[in-house]
Amino acid sequence: MAGLWQAGVVGTGMYVPEKVLTNADLEKIVETNDEWITTRVGIKERHIAAPEETVSTLGARAARQALEEADIPPEEVDLIITATITPDVPWPASACFIQRHLGAKQAAAFDIQAACSGFIYGLAMARAFINNGMYRTILVVASEVLTRITDWQDRNTAILFGDAAGAAVLRPVEAPRGILGTYLGADGSKSELLEMPGGGSRHPASHETVDNRLHYIKMKGNEVFKYAGRAMAHANKRVLEDTGISIEQVDLLIPHQANTRIIEAAARLSHLPMERVYRNIEKYGNTSAATTAVALHEARREGRLGPGAICLLVAFGGGFTWGSCLMRL
Ligand code: UT7
Repeated sequence: MAGLWQAGVVGTGMYVPEKVLTNADLEKIVETNDEWITTRVGIKERHIAAPEETVSTLGARAARQALEEADIPPEEVDLIITATITPDVPWPASACFIQRHLGAKQAAAFDIQAACSGFIYGLAMARAFINNGMYRTILVVASEVLTRITDWQDRNTAILFGDAAGAAVLRPVEAPRGILGTYLGADGSKSELLEMPGGGSRHPASHETVDNRLHYIKMKGNEVFKYAGRAMAHANKRVLEDTGISIEQVDLLIPHQANTRIIEAAARLSHLPMERVYRNIEKYGNTSAATTAVALHEARREGRLGPGAICLLVAFGGGFTWGSCLMRL
């Protein structure tokens, strides 16, 4: 393997807005209680963006931290991929705004939209671009301001979401370090189970779509729940098979943070003890594409992923989409 270079993560960053909304705060907004949220979902608090904050401002902060850690000036970034379902505006891409905030003048920029799996999809794309030699330095930014599309009258969803951004900067690294494999999947026949129906070409924004609250997240939680754990376990299995790495070799699983019970199911179905599974859902709630990016940064910062450690990222979300990414730090 000596002399082989492949895409790898060389820096990570994260940002969460200052304002915190606890379960006790939520009790004043919808009919719910701390005990239900804690036992059924595992969230204690979430962060809420200030009015002037957007996906691109959150994302730029996380990206700057990732670049600083890697000691790479913004001018050396070749491409910015932003994964988000809550862009600053429907278009142009939030990645372009992030490019502007960073002063990354040489970078191409575009958004991808794979809901909660967006960071994994972004890593897979960045890996392909680097491994085929098209680009050398790529920023993958997962940023969400989900509380702007949260229906604060719907207790089924209002308790779940938060705002955050995570970023990773990728460059060629020497094997055996780097991204060992990725696996992506989707099932469009289930798209209505988790969606924001208003504001697109099917239901363009109108007084009617606003009156019908179509610009908010709609989710059949129970139905989504049934798929999530199994789909993530499947994605884990596939990427491990493809790379010839066994589950015993995985030092840390970083799953999408949607529900503690889903995380436990994915771990159990993947035959991984919870000691080797990363969880921070209690602090941030479900921040869609950002959960895995933020968790990757925190796990590295906490020393849970030292040099040479094998990390498996996995996610599931609207679409449905799912995906996994196996890397050696
Ligand atoms: O990130 C993308 C993927 N998203 C996910 O993976 C989310 C997947 N879904 C879930 O995590 C869970 O389905 C939820 C957390 C959304 C809901 O948990 P659940 O265990 O599926 O609850 P449920 O919807 O079956 O509701 C159980 C009970 C109901 O009461 P009854 O009918 O049994 O009397 C609900 O009305 O809990 C009630 N309930 C609540 N009670 C207090 C629902 N929401 C709340 C609430 N507070 N916020």
